Amino acid sequence: MAIIERVFSGVQPTGNLHLGNYLGALVNFVKLQATHNCIYCVVDLHAITVPVSVWGGPDELRRNTREVTAAFIASGIDPKKQIIFNQSQVAEHAELAWVFNCVARLGWLNRMTQFKEKAGKDRENASIGLYDYPVLMASDILVYRATHVPVGEDQKQHLELARDIAQKFNNDFSESIAAHSKSSEGFFPLPEPVITGPATRVMSLRDGTKKMSKSDPSDYSRINLTDDADAIAQKIRKAKTDPEPLPSEEKGLETRAEADNLVGIYAALADKPKSEILSEFGGAQFSGFKSNLVDLAVAKLSPIAAEMKRLTADAAYVDSVLADGAARARAVASETMSAVKDIVGFIHRK
Ligand code: TYM
Repeated sequence: MAIIERVFSGVQPTGNLHLGNYLGALVNFVKLQATHNCIYCVVDLHAITVPVSVWGGPDELRRNTREVTAAFIASGIDPKKQIIFNQSQVAEHAELAWVFNCVARLGWLNRMTQFKEKAGKDRENASIGLYDYPVLMASDILVYRATHVPVGEDQKQHLELARDIAQKFNNDFSESIAAHSKSSEGFFPLPEPVITGPATRVMSLRDGTKKMSKSDPSDYSRINLTDDADAIAQKIRKAKTDPEPLPSEEKGLETRAEADNLVGIYAALADKPKSEILSEFGGAQFSGFKSNLVDLAVAKLSPIAAEMKRLTADAAYVDSVLADGAARARAVASETMSAVKDIVGFIHRK
């Protein structure tokens, strides 16, 4: 089985999809479809790693799964050309995760900073699933033997773990892999993170040192993809800034977290480098810059919000996209899983 270039990425259906998800991930998902076969997954198995009270229960999970699917489509991903599906419909993700649980080392998982952040002080009470989260994520990617993974910067460490797991599997089973595939190439590719653009880490609008996140209690900290034009305008106008005018060069942003964040957002929405935005707005006051940013954000995001609203009202259509995507995903995943069973030594029906 030769390795071919393939893109995989996932988004959790935990509500409040925001500008960080859009600029850090979805924009790149859309771009990559011009050059690659892409698989985009709503990772519902990951969503339930936090307490039920946090992910909201079955109705909320169904609603959020459809909302993320709608966001994929509304952002411009073509569900006919690419694969869009929800993770729990393809059992091979969980099946490969078990094999990887026996490849990954406890020491590797103990280093995961996101677990430490999410588990907080009450670590004894965190679910095993939350701890094991990055192993399932490695399975998501590798069950399709994907080579490229577009994500925001916060997922970098998880991607490194996926590479370590792929490498260790390839080493542990090298002889069996050679016999199976009649080649000296490793069975799993080492997936590469694709972390590109001026907004790989979008920060809170209230505090430039904190990541924009779905769990921030203040709704003013983030622009939600479902926000209407008034909400977008209000949030940008209230966004924290500093008293200085904008600099004309990027190094002038180094110690100005909030200014840096707003310029990054502008650049990403305009699909231009930050330097170009600064040559346009260098010396300007924030009030003027913010008005331009409101216009740009509303122009780019309102059509997406409207399309999401239209699509989420049609649950039958969204569910049919997921079912069709899952069938196509399963065809690839089952082939990988069958090879993995041969490689590991599990007897199975062929
Ligand atoms: P999730 O659902 O938290 O976020 C989805 C994507 O949005 C990016 N992102 C951001 N980018 C820039 N600035 C921000 N403030 C910001 N917040 C979120 C995330 O980096 C991500 O790309 N573990 C993943 C989901 C996942 C996955 C996978 C991703 C499961 N399996 C396999 C890739 C491959 C997550 O929790 O993303």
